[in-house]
Amino acid sequence: MTDAKPRDRLMFQASDYLNLLQQLEQFFADSAKHKPVATPLDPATLSDRLSLELSREGKSLEELQTDIANYLNNAVKTAHPAYFNQLWGGFTAPCFMGDMVGSATNTSMYTYEVAPVATLIEKTVIAKMGQLVGFSDPEGQFTTGGSNGNFMAMAIARHKAIPTLKQEGMTQCPKPIAFVSAESHYSFAKAAYLLGLGTAQLWSVPVDNEGKMVVAELESLIAKARAEGSLPFFVAGTAGTTVRGAYDPFAEIAAVAQREGLWFHIDGAWGASVLLSQTHRHLMQGAEQADSVVWDAHKMMGMTLMCSVLLVKQRGMMLNTFSTDGTDYLFHAEESDPIDLGHSTIHCGRRVDALKLWLTWKHLGDRGWETLIDQYFTLAARAEAIIHARECLKLVTPRQSLNLCFQYIPQNSQQTANDMTLKIRQALWSEGVAMVNYAQLDDMVVFRLVICNNQTGLEDIEAFFDALVAIGQRLERESV
Ligand SMILES: Cc1ncc(COP(=O)(O)O)c(C=O)c1O
Repeated sequence: MTDAKPRDRLMFQASDYLNLLQQLEQFFADSAKHKPVATPLDPATLSDRLSLELSREGKSLEELQTDIANYLNNAVKTAHPAYFNQLWGGFTAPCFMGDMVGSATNTSMYTYEVAPVATLIEKTVIAKMGQLVGFSDPEGQFTTGGSNGNFMAMAIARHKAIPTLKQEGMTQCPKPIAFVSAESHYSFAKAAYLLGLGTAQLWSVPVDNEGKMVVAELESLIAKARAEGSLPFFVAGTAGTTVRGAYDPFAEIAAVAQREGLWFHIDGAWGASVLLSQTHRHLMQGAEQADSVVWDAHKMMGMTLMCSVLLVKQRGMMLNTFSTDGTDYLFHAEESDPIDLGHSTIHCGRRVDALKLWLTWKHLGDRGWETLIDQYFTLAARAEAIIHARECLKLVTPRQSLNLCFQYIPQNSQQTANDMTLKIRQALWSEGVAMVNYAQLDDMVVFRLVICNNQTGLEDIEAFFDALVAIGQRLERESV
């Protein structure tokens, strides 16, 4: 390594990046169909292939190319058309450009002073997304993800319900109770204990056979909480549950929340993006009556992680909840509706996530988003038709959006459908054919196929099922 001064060693020179761009080009070429989506290795074997140790002497940028190549070669190809493992995937060029510009201009979203363009962009995107929900004058912020947005929404609701909270904590109030459906995301449990409610004060509302909250049960639970002298303050519906992709009945929940004086939040981390489609936005009916909505653009909209917003209907609620003293070193202009975003969030430093979404929105336009979402639904409908057409496949819960929960039913062996599902999933992954996740539904282990990868086409869906069934039949033959 040279003895150049740190400043010189860290300076930008375009020539340093040409090799990197070529490596990335190769990475994306390797993410194409017929190439392995992943090459799973156990941690010890992988460690041996990398040079993880950090030494006293530094390396040149050229020498880092080997480390970068090792990283790329062993990375899961999440833009591969057969990557279905998570509620995100694919690749979006303007998003990547936004990421690069965001890194190059490295700043923090807390003040207009250090992030002037980014602040205006973030406010523009928040207004647009709020308007799609049906909020007339929303506030909102990008957060570090849906979990964080759900946490912040519960914090705002708790603050509204217990106005003395900032000074007194929860020492002087009845037990606050929050309600979520039995199939809501686990982030609400974290929020409940991190916000001092305790998970015992997070009450689970039963769901129907499609995984949607039963609102009559919510009403009974609220009545029970009141009878015990507790303080019901928050109910969350989910737009696109993690496993089944169910949408709770928002208009009905809103009516109960309004009558009972509860904050109504919608966790739309996965499913709020259907608002971009005229055909599918009906799934969000009633969302405009919510008090807050979380919406992850890094899921259905294909942004790189993280890109998530919390939208709040009533302006000022975020500022009231999150503002604190001791910030004069950072925020120099105190106003009631400040241009600086940092007053109204739990974050101090925060990266620029709005830029990549704004650039992509400019590139696609509303129409491009609509086409994307509609295509996902077309692919999901095709997947459903294939499952129905194949005797060895069974859809175990009705498809409501882009999630397909199904099992492989053995035809010629004694193995259980649960075992076969796990084995086929493992084989698809270890052979690099496809990555698809599994989940537990009641006593069933099911494939959870999710359609949200913009690189996937109809032929990839067909190839996925052909491969899955072929592996299933092979495993059946091997077991007899
Ligand atoms: C319904 C739902 N809410 C929240 C989350 C958490 O989102 P994030 O990973 O952005 O924190 C998920 C993640 O899959 C989810 O499915």
